[in-house]
Amino acid sequence: MEFSIKSGDTDRPDACVVAGVFEARRGRFTLAAKRIDQVSGGYLTEFLRRGEMKGRLASALMLHHVPGMTARVLLVGLGKEKTYREAEFQKAVHAAVTALDAAGIRNAFLSLTSGEAPRDISWRVRQAVLVAEAACYRFDRCKGEKPPPRRALRHLALAADRGERDLGERALLEGRAIAEGVRLARDLGNLPANICTPEYLAGTARDMAAELKLDCAILTPKKIAAEGMDALLAVARGSRQEARFIHIEYRPVGNREKPLVLVGKGVTFDSGGISLKPAANMDEMKYDMCGGAAVLGVVRAAARMALPAPIVALIPCCENMPGGEATRPGDIVSSLSGQSIEILNTDAEGRLLLCDALTYAKRFKPAAIVDVATLTGACVVALGHVASGLFTRDEDLARALAEAAESSQDKLWRLPLWEEYGEALKSGFADVANVGGREGGAITAASFLSRFVDEKTPWAHLDIAGTAWKSGKDKGATGRPVVLLCHYLLQRARKRGVAADKAS
Ligand code: BES
Ligand code: MN
Ligand code: ZN
Repeated sequence: MEFSIKSGDTDRPDACVVAGVFEARRGRFTLAAKRIDQVSGGYLTEFLRRGEMKGRLASALMLHHVPGMTARVLLVGLGKEKTYREAEFQKAVHAAVTALDAAGIRNAFLSLTSGEAPRDISWRVRQAVLVAEAACYRFDRCKGEKPPPRRALRHLALAADRGERDLGERALLEGRAIAEGVRLARDLGNLPANICTPEYLAGTARDMAAELKLDCAILTPKKIAAEGMDALLAVARGSRQEARFIHIEYRPVGNREKPLVLVGKGVTFDSGGISLKPAANMDEMKYDMCGGAAVLGVVRAAARMALPAPIVALIPCCENMPGGEATRPGDIVSSLSGQSIEILNTDAEGRLLLCDALTYAKRFKPAAIVDVATLTGACVVALGHVASGLFTRDEDLARALAEAAESSQDKLWRLPLWEEYGEALKSGFADVANVGGREGGAITAASFLSRFVDEKTPWAHLDIAGTAWKSGKDKGATGRPVVLLCHYLLQRARKRGVAADKAS
């Protein structure tokens, strides 16, 4: 979809103006709706008076012939003004885009981005782009039959006051960049495991690096072994698909700051290995690389919006299969950190990939590390499909990520990471076991990872097992937590910019 920033009225015959109405006893106009009401001699007031539009959140009423206007008008309910916040804005934009599309409208002017709304113009423009793009997302790459005709809505102009145009344009660029990252993450997630193999992910990273002029290195099994990442190789052993370790780096020209390191779990299919999973819903384990896909999406977005801070992305990729050379329960392997690991359950494979990647991350002297993984079913039991799990011992990082989650509505909920949870991972035969038992499974997994990160480096682990994809009739990758991480990056860049301004 195309987007633009517009100030003032855009009344054109082939277009539609979207204006918001708050819920009150008889509905209450936003500024934009009030203006249209005045131009039309109180035409909108009639609909409120008759109760045809009450402002209920996400309700929509299309008006085809408004006196004094050539464009059509779509009234969208915003709910009560007192409770009009981030989520309500998103729902209203979603309702608007859906209604515009259903009515076959090609061009529309969304007034919701200026005037009464939560947060500033940058946030509103960015979010409008993200919601509109997400509403139009389809995955039909693997369909043989011709996909249904493209959606009608082609161009969405977003309102900004005259003084806010520059901010609006910048936010438009950010919104498009983030939307591209989300789309990449969703596409990779939705691709089946026979297409989206470790090699395919590596190829995607390499192509992206070439396109956006990023540094990229792909480690093949020989190189992975030479590095000493035997925990990763222990998982890959049961599959005919070779492991890959992706290292891709975005660095603004001339910037020599310490990077943020992002680590993403890239298990392209998780059968469980010898500790085989039950058959029901096993197809969904093609989504076990969504952490890696999200990390690629974030790098894409960061490069596209020329973020002023460096990022190193590490994505260990392999397939977890029960082949003849597969790791057995009870096997003991070494890790890059030097710690030996007793693999009691081959289905707890994600932590084996991640522990080596976290150790590998040390060489970049990270300013902070964030890993993203579909790590545990226990996290889904704890938090359902609403929030991703957040685990960290760094209060500043916890605060910053929580703020980004609130702003993006890509929700996080923090679970504890106290030392006591580490007890469960004791092994009589190796330095550590890879499972701790059913209780507190999401936390013991995080606790396992914590053994591979230097205490002094701020580190957070995001368990996206419940949020990376949807099951049921709307089955598909969500692209989470790309938006969350991009908000975190933008917010971090802004804060550091302010600090630099003060220092100079
Ligand atoms: N990829 C799974 C986690 C998962 C399961 C995500 C279901 C989403 C839905 C992970 O590799 C796994 O199998 N974890 C095990 C760990 C257990 C053996 C300690 C789990 O959660 O059952
Ligand atoms: Mn598993
Ligand atoms: Zn897994």
